[in-house]
Amino acid sequence: MAEQKGSSSKIMVITLVAAVALMAVVVPFAYVGKPIGKAGNADDVDSRIAPVAQLELAKAAPAATGPRDGKTIFETVCAACHATGAAGAPKAGDKAAWAPRIAQGMPALINSVTNGKNAMPAKGGANLSDDEIKSVVKYITDLAK
Ligand code: HEC
Repeated sequence: MAEQKGSSSKIMVITLVAAVALMAVVVPFAYVGKPIGKAGNADDVDSRIAPVAQLELAKAAPAATGPRDGKTIFETVCAACHATGAAGAPKAGDKAAWAPRIAQGMPALINSVTNGKNAMPAKGGANLSDDEIKSVVKYITDLAK
């Protein structure tokens, strides 16, 4: 009897060990697909944030290539209003419209562009450095001289 009990508990132990061993082998296989799935999700996240990252790079690009010159800034930012006189903006090259403004002096004009004035948003609504503002104000006033 005692021997029988002993052998049946041996069988149980062997069964248990075999079950644990089997799980140790089977479980990692069961998860093989999952890490790949997770990697796929990470790729999804990468592709979803990618346009944002590219946009940040595009924004950073002008700074990386140095300040833009007055003509470039005028054409890309200021011309929207100052080429046509939209929103009551003094038209570029219109000497009569610019004479009284130029008479205020460069610091006053630079201040108007930096901080905005009435219908003109600060920096013309763009992201400009102080040097860029100086060169574009010089460019726009030179057009009316
Ligand atoms: C959304 C339209 C708009 C944009 C964009 C814009 N301006 Fe203006 N700007 C105006 C208007 C309107 C005025 C007249 C403001 C007033 O005196 O009431 C003005 C006035 C000015 C003046 C005269 C300011 C003064 O004190 O008399 C300067 C200089 C000037 N703009 C330069 C620029 C430059 C440089 C840019 C580009 C970086 C620019 N503007 C972009 C609308 C614009």
